[in-house]
Amino acid sequence: EAASKGGFDHFMIKEINEQPNGIKETLNRRLDENGDIKLDDIKLTKAELDNINKVYIVACGTAYYAGLVGKHAIEKFAKIPVETDIASEFRYRDAFVDENTLLIVVSQSGETADTLAALKEAKSKGARILAITNVVGSSVSREADDVFYTWAGPEIAVASTKAYTTQLVSLYMIALDFAIKKGTITKEQYKTMISKLGETSDKVQEIIDNSDDIEKIAEEIKDSKDAFYLGRGLDYCLAMEGALKLKEISYIHAEAFPAGELKHGPIALIEEGTPVISIATQDVLFEKMVSNMKEVKARGAYVIALAKEGNKEVEKAADRVIYIPEVDDVLSSILTVVPLQILSYHVATKRGCDVDKPRNLAKSVTVE
Ligand code: G6P
Repeated sequence: EAASKGGFDHFMIKEINEQPNGIKETLNRRLDENGDIKLDDIKLTKAELDNINKVYIVACGTAYYAGLVGKHAIEKFAKIPVETDIASEFRYRDAFVDENTLLIVVSQSGETADTLAALKEAKSKGARILAITNVVGSSVSREADDVFYTWAGPEIAVASTKAYTTQLVSLYMIALDFAIKKGTITKEQYKTMISKLGETSDKVQEIIDNSDDIEKIAEEIKDSKDAFYLGRGLDYCLAMEGALKLKEISYIHAEAFPAGELKHGPIALIEEGTPVISIATQDVLFEKMVSNMKEVKARGAYVIALAKEGNKEVEKAADRVIYIPEVDDVLSSILTVVPLQILSYHVATKRGCDVDKPRNLAKSVTVE
């Protein structure tokens, strides 16, 4: 086992380190000689795509949080309404699905029972099924009409890291492919976004290479009872994934809130020293996030901000700041998640937790 960890202490940190490569593989394997996206396994024609008036993205756990980012991307680029749903909710709620519906299932393993059941339910109602999965030949891939394989490579740690970032890349690519086919973005915008997507892998590497400060922050918060994650827009999706990562491997109670909801309840939970990880990567929402940070800080929170390089103003409202390299707002998710993963990893190891095999959890939940 030590050998397969490639010199790392745990599979989780090895897999965090494999992300730049996973991102590159997922993208580059589907770019043609002109640098355009070519999705061989997705047979949806332009005419079929034009008939789709509703997209559901259905998944569990981390894959569900990737799906929330997918909603932002598809709605923004391809202008199709998207609803992201938890598979165990979707399968029992009699969602409106017909032959003009596209169901995108996201599943690292391709074997999650609820996700598979949701797929079958939608299929029986006539939906077109597109699977995003990491495992070739998995149940989900066999049931789907179209398949997009993430090129993360085998993921061993229970807490998903590289599968998530490659799911994000896949969803961005699908969104851009749909958009260019539907004519909802210009060729120039399409080219620019592909090239920016291509830059994310080096930026993720940069975050990993400069993560010593994140380990120091982990030391400061490792004995906390609770931790809260705040974000707005796309950052709220990342707040949810960040909170999941922390709770599943460190057993610290971690919860995410949309920052705008603070005054409707969550602010009552802030005590002296409560860590509040505040994600502020979205330019239009930046000022709003800074004022939310000030609000929790005034109530004693220990504010750890995550912002884009250069946004120094955040330092006035935070105790610690983690900077990520400059990135287009819509693609920031691929970068933002990485410090959150690294923070959770260090908190968990410092608490002596079994990071690769957290208690009570399984890598793949194949029963309901
Ligand atoms: C389990 C794993 C998670 C994963 C979820 C969905 O809960 O511990 O890491 O995100 O299942 O798994 P899937 O294979 O469908 O992506």
